[in-house]
Amino acid sequence: MTHLKPLYILSTMNDTELKQEIRRLLDEHNAVLLAHNYQRDEIQEIADITGDSLGLSVEAGKTDKDVIVFCGVHFMAESVYIISPEKKVILPRLDAGCPMADMIDAKKLQALKNEHPDAVVVTYVNSTAEVKALSDICCTSANAVKVIKSLTDTKKIIMTPDRNLGKYTARFVDKEFVFFDGYCPTHDRVTEADVIEAKEKHPSALFMAHPECRPEVLKFAEHICSTSGMYAYAKESSAQKFIIGTEMGILYRLKKDNPKKEFHLASKKLVCPNMKLTRLEDIYESLSEMKNFVTVPEEIRLPAKEALDRMLAVPRD
Ligand code: 13P
Ligand code: SF4
Repeated sequence: MTHLKPLYILSTMNDTELKQEIRRLLDEHNAVLLAHNYQRDEIQEIADITGDSLGLSVEAGKTDKDVIVFCGVHFMAESVYIISPEKKVILPRLDAGCPMADMIDAKKLQALKNEHPDAVVVTYVNSTAEVKALSDICCTSANAVKVIKSLTDTKKIIMTPDRNLGKYTARFVDKEFVFFDGYCPTHDRVTEADVIEAKEKHPSALFMAHPECRPEVLKFAEHICSTSGMYAYAKESSAQKFIIGTEMGILYRLKKDNPKKEFHLASKKLVCPNMKLTRLEDIYESLSEMKNFVTVPEEIRLPAKEALDRMLAVPRD
């Protein structure tokens, strides 16, 4: 079948055949399929591993496969390459970016560092490789508090690019903070009014929110955590109903793992258009043509890796 032009094959396959072909191509190329928790349901269904940013970076570092097909957004595939440059990293849609990551660049971060030369730079992994390269340590939503607490000798911290994650994390330590004014458009558009309305509709539901939400939204949350943290909380909690303050892709596994529980999005606006760009067809095309590789030049990769390695060295529990 591989001798035929992929586009021709694509037009003749239904979703079930497409999924089988993708699995076959993954075997043929000794590849693993990683999918972020926000990916489309059908992609999560066929992925070898699904997870949050931290979990997927760790898994990518452990795999013995030659090729990593990463279904997510550009900065995540970059992080995988930074950690495992000997692997071929495919991002099926090279145009799947993250608007928050693109809010800051090396020039803006350097200006902030020049203004606060005594500060340690903590950069959320939702950032480009060149921004990571200028940072002291990275963090994800799953470990931001632990990373900040690990900086025991530090008095002043620049947190970039997410102002909401920054303000949330700053609650846990007594230090001076400088926040870059970036945000995730998907999470930042959830309002206090949205949450009040959702709570009125589902009065017995617990509200779980991602720290990328605004502070006035987070103040209503019973639990604040990364996407994978929400799976754990939903499973362990005796509550039967939950209001979800993160991207809608998370509902797939929440419902699958907890068929008797109810999950309601805090707002219909919780859709990340970039996370929804990747379709089965894109995975098939990039794998069959072995294209859409993500790489990072060595002079950026090495300092970016140092910042990621410092983060990975912070104990997870
Ligand atoms: P997680 O780190 O929780 O996976 O979130 C990534 C992300 O892009 C949130 O918007
Ligand atoms: Fe970026 Fe927000 Fe989309 Fe996550 S949900 S990838 S932070 S735009």
